[in-house]
Amino acid sequence: MPARKIIIDTDPGQDDAVAILLALASPEDLEVLGITAVAGNVPLPLTEKNARIICELAGKPETRVFAGCDAPLARKLVTAEHVHGKTGLDGPQLAAPTMALQPKHAVDFIVETLLTEPAGTVTLCPLGPLTNIAAALQKAPEIAGRIQEIVLMGGAYFEVGNITPAAEFNIYVDPEAADIVFRCGAPITVMPLDVTHKALTTRPRIEAFRAMGTEPGRMVAEWTDFFERFDMEKYGSQGAPLHDPCVIAYLIEPGLFSGRKINVMIETKGEYTLGMTVADWWRVSGRPANAMFMGDVDADGFYRLLTERIARL
Ligand code: RIB
Ligand code: CA
Repeated sequence: MPARKIIIDTDPGQDDAVAILLALASPEDLEVLGITAVAGNVPLPLTEKNARIICELAGKPETRVFAGCDAPLARKLVTAEHVHGKTGLDGPQLAAPTMALQPKHAVDFIVETLLTEPAGTVTLCPLGPLTNIAAALQKAPEIAGRIQEIVLMGGAYFEVGNITPAAEFNIYVDPEAADIVFRCGAPITVMPLDVTHKALTTRPRIEAFRAMGTEPGRMVAEWTDFFERFDMEKYGSQGAPLHDPCVIAYLIEPGLFSGRKINVMIETKGEYTLGMTVADWWRVSGRPANAMFMGDVDADGFYRLLTERIARL
């Protein structure tokens, strides 16, 4: 079975970093055609720089990294330094990247890739706000029918919001972009907080990364040491949710996850509910299903996969 072709769209972010490491450590499963950076956790100059740092940490400086949109389609950028720190990758000391950023705009790369690769053979993996994906769909609507699948981290239903009482961060930052994506007609699989909050970085799981004795293992441990303090304080949990690696783990071992094909619409007007993913889990709306909305994960299996693959780097 040939490796699945993917584009990772990302706003690193410690959890994005672990997702990218997992993807780059799994060449038999995934061919990373490119990594497109978007403004989100931190501004674009940092997310694109962080993406390059992560590729070099994985020993894959040949990976193509593109810079995309530096602000949401129609709103001011909201960032999350309170969670990820000023650099977006706070925790360990990191050297500046030496690999070059690609000159092409990320949106052009996404459009051109989907128009030149055979239809239905490229999966988009958004791990941040959906601005780049929506901008690509606006630039070339015909790409919607050529996307194999969009597997994204975002949204919430039973778990409700993490940046407002109603909304998850990635969707909240650019609700108009999310609305465009969820209406585009491409197959969509959603990894919401309902799933990621069941994939917690407990102490033994973090120590397994540190015990690898490798630079990537040490980085993942120190990133999660930093990243988990916010969620543990807020939720009183035993660790932090490793959100974004759920997207990549699904592509490698889909059986780790379960969910329902339902209708998901995005609130773009609500005074208190802006950015909410209105997930029709009980199928009461009569609206057609447009997304596989995940609800559960085998957390031990997820960390087994993560540990096994990251140890390869
Ligand atoms: O709400 C969690 C999401 O927002 C994750 O993708 C995290 O990296 C931030 O982008
Ligand atoms: Ca992210």
